[in-house]
Amino acid sequence: MNLRWAYHEYVPYQVTLIPGDGIGPEVADATARAVDSTGVAIDWERVELNGEVLRASGGEIPQYVLDSIERTRVGLKGPVTTPIAGGHQSVNVQLRKRLELFANFRPVRSFAGIKTRYRDVHIDIVMFRENTEDLYAGLEHEVVKDVVTSLKVITRVASLRIARYAFEYARREGRRKIHAIHKANIMKLGDGLFLRCCRETARDYPEIEYKEMIVDNAAMQLVMRPETFDTLLMPNLYGDIVSDLVAGLVGGLGIVPGANFGERHAVFEAVHGSAPDIAGKGIANPTALMQSAALMLTYLGETEAARRLQFAIEWVYAEGRHLTPDVGGSASTAEFTDAVIGRLTTTVPSQPGT
Ligand code: NAI
Repeated sequence: MNLRWAYHEYVPYQVTLIPGDGIGPEVADATARAVDSTGVAIDWERVELNGEVLRASGGEIPQYVLDSIERTRVGLKGPVTTPIAGGHQSVNVQLRKRLELFANFRPVRSFAGIKTRYRDVHIDIVMFRENTEDLYAGLEHEVVKDVVTSLKVITRVASLRIARYAFEYARREGRRKIHAIHKANIMKLGDGLFLRCCRETARDYPEIEYKEMIVDNAAMQLVMRPETFDTLLMPNLYGDIVSDLVAGLVGGLGIVPGANFGERHAVFEAVHGSAPDIAGKGIANPTALMQSAALMLTYLGETEAARRLQFAIEWVYAEGRHLTPDVGGSASTAEFTDAVIGRLTTTVPSQPGT
């Protein structure tokens, strides 16, 4: 008898599911359905975090959301809309800070079946973004009318922590090269400190090639020669912007997964936002959140289910018949999801690509 199965039958994993708003509930429901279809027993604790909830809470992240993740320690989260140029602080930023989810991890790979300008180039880039400080500290101040300062906070503790996390990952996963991305030619103190911490950490990992690149040049090099990049290590703001750029190289935001890791908790979420332009139309691409869920299954130790889910997604792309409009297809969210679920029983080759 398989004891793992016995265990799952009686004690399912508890995971906090935050559908969010905009396309969030559409992609979250699709993803939960796909995860459930892998056979891994998950007791989803669904908590609402959206515009309505935030209006009632005055923009503060409700305590029940934090309590739920404190209890389950694992979250799967859809996007939440943040008002622009006013209104409450981003709850995404609040959540990452309150739970000390200091490491934002975003792996990006070329996908067979998506026609991009880079179809002859193999892209495999892993991004680490510091998640708790920088300009996201939320320290803004109108000094006098029409003069505003926004404080960029960079600390040694947070910079060393993210650098160590990225180098440890690179060592564990056999990655060869890390680029620290910065603007220390202008922000000599803040980005200078970030770079010093990266350099210091790099010395403990002689097998990993360490390089530095100014963020504007990095943006150009990523567009011109994405195949020359391996792992990017970035402070918060550059990480945010560069993530979308790199997502664009492989087919857009509908694809790229992510995770936020802390010492005690992990919250898995796509790079994309709430996509108000397509919300409610049933055409949102759930791939990014599904791939985030595959990362979650790996984190839970369910590596076989994670591989099966990932393989099913990639199979559906390779077939190309059930893709959503953002990647050139005409399928709905539900049709794509059904296709992935239909492929979950396909045997996964032992070697990728065989
Ligand atoms: P966005 O990522 O929501 O959308 C940008 C473009 O990508 C849109 O054209 C959208 O239709 C498309 N897109 C994004 N995800 C897609 C998907 N799964 N399938 C198909 N197309 C997709 O970025 P935007 O418009 O800048 O932000 C909208 C809202 O989302 C803002 O309030 C922002 O603050 C919030 N946001 C929330 C995040 C989170 O909760 N983690 C992350 C990023 C933005």
